[in-house]
This record gives sequence, C-alpha cells and structure tokens, in this order.
Amino acid sequence: MSKQRILSGVQPTGNLHLGNYLGAIRNWVEAQSEYDNFFCVVDLHAITVPHNPATLAQDTYTIAALYLACGIDLQYSTIFVQSHVCAHSELAWLLNCITPLNWLERMIQFKEKALKQGENVSVGLLDYPVLMAADILLYDADKVPVGEDQKQHLELTRDLVIRFNDKFGSKDKPILKMPEPLIRKEGARVMSLTDGTNKMSKSDPNELSRINLLDTPDQIAKKIKRCKTDPIKGLSFDDKDRPECNNLLTLYSILAGKSKAEVAVECQKFGWGQFKPLLTETTIESLKPIQAKYHELMADPSYLNSVLKQGQEKAESVANQTLSRVKNALGYLTIN
Ligand code: TYM
Repeated sequence: MSKQRILSGVQPTGNLHLGNYLGAIRNWVEAQSEYDNFFCVVDLHAITVPHNPATLAQDTYTIAALYLACGIDLQYSTIFVQSHVCAHSELAWLLNCITPLNWLERMIQFKEKALKQGENVSVGLLDYPVLMAADILLYDADKVPVGEDQKQHLELTRDLVIRFNDKFGSKDKPILKMPEPLIRKEGARVMSLTDGTNKMSKSDPNELSRINLLDTPDQIAKKIKRCKTDPIKGLSFDDKDRPECNNLLTLYSILAGKSKAEVAVECQKFGWGQFKPLLTETTIESLKPIQAKYHELMADPSYLNSVLKQGQEKAESVANQTLSRVKNALGYLTIN
C-alpha cells in the first residue's frame, strides 16, 4: 500500500519561533518516514498583511533552510515555495467562487488580524483560508500537521471539500480528497513568555514574548530571565490558575524529552531561580544543532536553490494533475 500524503507550511514572515517548531515542524520531522510529505514555504500567504519586499526572498530562504536544519529529510519529503507553483493561486480562485462570504467572515484569525489592522484589511487576508485550502487539496493530502490555531481553517477546508464534491462530483467519484488535521496535544499551543494566556506569535510587537529558533544563547537567557512568572511556591502544571508556569514547564518537558509526570516530580520543589537557568540551558542546547546546520546551509545557496528547484518540479507534477481534475469537473474547455 502506498504511503499517506502529508502537506503543511509556514509563512516566511520573519523568524520561526518555538511555537512554530513545537506546534508544527518538530511533528513533521518525527513522523516523516511514515508518510509522503510536502512542506511548502507559504510566501503568498505572507503578503496578506503589509510586508517588506526587500526581505521576502531572504525570509523565504531562511524558512526553507530551517526546514532542513530542523531535520526534514529529502528522502521522505519535498520542500518547495508556494509561489513557485502557479496552481496554488489558480485553485484558490476556483475555490473562491464556491466559498460563501460568511464562512470567511467568521474565521477567528481573520477577525483578530483585521482588528489589529483597522482600515487597511485586504481582501487577501479574508481569503487566506481559501488559499490554505488550495494548498492542501492540490496534493490530495490525507493529513495536515499544524498547531491548534489552524483548526478552524482546516474545518473550513473540509467544508469546502464537501461542498465542491456535492456540486461537481458524485458519491462514488469525489473530485477533492478529504484531509484530516493532525494536531498533537503537547506543544500545539505554545504561549507567550510575557503573557501565559496569549499564544506565542510572530506578530507580537514585544520581542521578549517569543524565543526564535535563531536566537543567540544570550538572547535566550535574557528572554527567559525576564519572562512572566507567578509568586506561588513550587512549580506545577496548572493551565487554569498558573498559565505561565504551565507553559514554561511544558516547554521544558518537550525540549528535555521528559514526560510531564517526570517534570512534575523534578520541579515540584523548585523556585524560579532554580528553574529558569535549567530551562535556559535546555533551550540553548536543543537549538544548538539546528542553528549549526542552518548556518552551514545558508553558506551554500546553490544547494538550497537546487532543493527548491527539485521541490518545485515534484510539487508541480502533483498539483497540476489535481488542478486539471478540478477544472474538468467545473466544465472548462480544454484544447490539446
Ligand atoms: P504560520 O506561519 O502562522 O504558522 C506555522 C505553524 O506554526 C503553528 N503555530 C503554533 N503552534 C503552537 N503554538 C504556537 N504559539 C504557534 N504559532 C504558530 C501553526 O499552527 C502552523 O502549523 N496558515 C498557516 C500556514 C499555511 C498552512 C497551509 C498550514 C498555509 N497553507 C496548508 C498547513 C497547510 C500558518 O498558520 O502559518
């Protein structure tokens, strides 16, 4: 039997943080040998909010290099750039025409981001989930590994599959494949270092709120030293009353590769003065090999270019077939 297909992606908006790594990429790496994987750098999504043209290309390289540095293995996985495969924009347009406007208006991320931008909200931001659906559906993905915040977008993708197949396919001949979200419990929602009730995010203006994968040891030490804690004696997992403590212990448990039960026992009598240096050391050590590999890769642009070129070809060959299937179902004229 052939392997199930996975598709996922990250936006090239600045640096990756621990939330992106623990919520998404680490899980891609762990499961990659069991699946046929497509990982894209979603640069079309990156311009749905105001962006800097001077840094977009470099940021795209950075994310592709970080995929490899985190352990994505080309033996099992294809890495490519979303804008290099035109089918993404085209399928997004076709899906737009069957997506009810009110499905998009109720998306939580749209509402949150739109609130931050006031008057400047683009049609692209509203349309973000349709483009994401196109990303997934072009590859007939069985599973989509993401963090908790993407759950609603995946539900929309699933609703679009039902709607499209109902209108243009038949029960025994669905046109689009139904994908399943793959959301791991641990790390699915890494919280901000400065507010344990908010998720860690690239768009938070406070740099101290997140640890980036490329932060230096000094930056990591500073951020953990200044992160929000609570005055309660002893440390415990308690997401209701101690959100910061719960988040920091969770980070420690994942990065140290220890179970929650082990960490609960180890840290129950610790004060913050004892715990923070331990978390700092563990974080620095976990990121060290990723950073070393990243710098090695960035020193050889021709290798990275060849990875992305091959990725583009492989992705195109799959995506174009799905696009043709969809266009046929919609009744488009074809000439040979
Ligand atoms: P992006 O770049 O915002 O996030 C990339 C991945 O990181 C996860 N994530 C988190 N996980 C845990 N804790 C956090 N604090 C945290 N912050 C972010 C996100 O859930 C995501 O998995 N819309 C997608 C990009 C995308 C995509 C796709 C994903 C575009 N097309 C197709 C899957 C399939 C996004 O959120 O990117």
